[in-house]
Amino acid sequence: MIQLLRVLFLCAAGFVVTSANGQSADGLRGINVLVAYHSLSGNTERMAEAVAEGARTVSPTHVSVKRVQQVTAEDLFAADAIILGSPVYWSNMAGEVKAFIDDWQFKFGVFPEFKLKNKVGAAFATGGQISSGKELTMLSMLAAMLGNYMIVVSGGGAFGASATTEGNSPGIDEQELAGARDLGQRVAEVAVAVKRGFEPPEGRAASSGQ
Ligand SMILES: Cc1cc2nc3c(=O)[nH]c(=O)nc-3n(C[C@H](O)[C@H](O)[C@H](O)COP(=O)(O)O)c2cc1C
Repeated sequence: MIQLLRVLFLCAAGFVVTSANGQSADGLRGINVLVAYHSLSGNTERMAEAVAEGARTVSPTHVSVKRVQQVTAEDLFAADAIILGSPVYWSNMAGEVKAFIDDWQFKFGVFPEFKLKNKVGAAFATGGQISSGKELTMLSMLAAMLGNYMIVVSGGGAFGASATTEGNSPGIDEQELAGARDLGQRVAEVAVAVKRGFEPPEGRAASSGQ
């Protein structure tokens, strides 16, 4: 029942009303959500898939899920929202994710124009222990986004979605996956709202049908 009310609310807000050509009722043609992650043993990848699942519940949305090394300039700049995921390595993000963030400049040249400005950003993390760096890991990814003038949001937790993968209950449980889906959904909802805010209605009307 609560889910039904939520869907009705989102319809009323224009988040899930789409026409046959993928446009929302007010002509918004869609948003691109990029979920980029590093994962060696599969935990962060599982969270990435759940984040993507949550984002896909919001229409009109196109979601791509990629390992950080596979992200192209086109992926990065076409994204309206970027959600970064990392395992915790020594209480911080994995080197692969940091290298990807550094590549925003080295490979993709985002500075000095701040080319990622006003994209929505969020983070998720998996760590072996309960209190051993997940929040720091998410915050360090979010800090890089803030430095790029992105619009940082949370969801699935105060700093993003996270999972504890070792110890008494190894792997990722349903509650942690639900948090990841919540994060993906919230990011997509905010990205739709931001894009709507930045796109004048006449602009949307002019581009419809193309
Ligand atoms: C080099 C290394 C350092 C790690 N450091 C931490 C740590 O500081 N805190 C923690 O909670 N887990 C730590 N872990 C555990 C991983 O964060 C955890 O197993 C994670 O879920 C792995 O993600 P993946 O399956 O996506 O590779 C570390 C693992 C490795 C390989």
